[in-house]
Amino acid sequence: MTGASIGAAIGAAIGAATGAVGAPPSLRDRLREATRPEHERLEAGLDLAGPGLDAARYRRVLALFHGFWAAWEPRVAAGIADPALTGPRRRLHRLRGDLAALGEDPDALPVAPPPPLRGRGEAMGALYVMEGSTLGGRVILKRAEGLGLPPDATGFFAGHGAETGPMWKRFVARLEAEPDGDAVLRGARAAFLGLEAWTLGPDAA
Ligand code: HEM
Repeated sequence: MTGASIGAAIGAAIGAATGAVGAPPSLRDRLREATRPEHERLEAGLDLAGPGLDAARYRRVLALFHGFWAAWEPRVAAGIADPALTGPRRRLHRLRGDLAALGEDPDALPVAPPPPLRGRGEAMGALYVMEGSTLGGRVILKRAEGLGLPPDATGFFAGHGAETGPMWKRFVARLEAEPDGDAVLRGARAAFLGLEAWTLGPDAA
């Protein structure tokens, strides 16, 4: 299986396993379906799980993620206004630590444009995208093991370590309780498109 199809294949398997006949789709199902093309484009474009990954590419992608997280993470936390939910999910400091371990000065790196987010629902949609990246992170971590990176340069893709699965489950439960599902969908799409433009667009640094 190519790196471009891992998320899609697992997502489809999970969807098949959880989609009860006749039941209305959960918000998580709607999100996964609505953002599948964006996820696939990012997976393929970043090519982090394929044979093209080397230490230079790893560092470049971390620097791009840093620029996105630096712009989006504080805005998402402010929009949700629930530090108990967002605090443990912050990972900008991990990106900074990983980059420093690789000899980069995070403060010298470019930051993405401000997120076009309005309201709590849209911020929750963006957090869905940022939290979801902890799931693929485990695949990427495996690939990164063979690159000869310093041991303290993999904090971001380590996600929440052994807590990644339980934290994802708890997050999805919170997501399902959001009253405005359409706002969550808008926020998720905005986050995927913002990340795609920043990391793969013509101006990607
Ligand atoms: C090469 C890069 C990537 C790979 C290999 C990858 C792979 C995966 C895999 C395997 C899953 C399913 C895991 C599970 O449900 O247990 C997943 C889910 C997800 N990924 Fe990625 N991913 C990548 C990049 C990204 C990026 C950059 C983002 C966004 C920042 C992202 C967002 C998500 C989201 C939101 C989900 C959850 C989908 C759902 O609702 O089930 N992924 N990814």
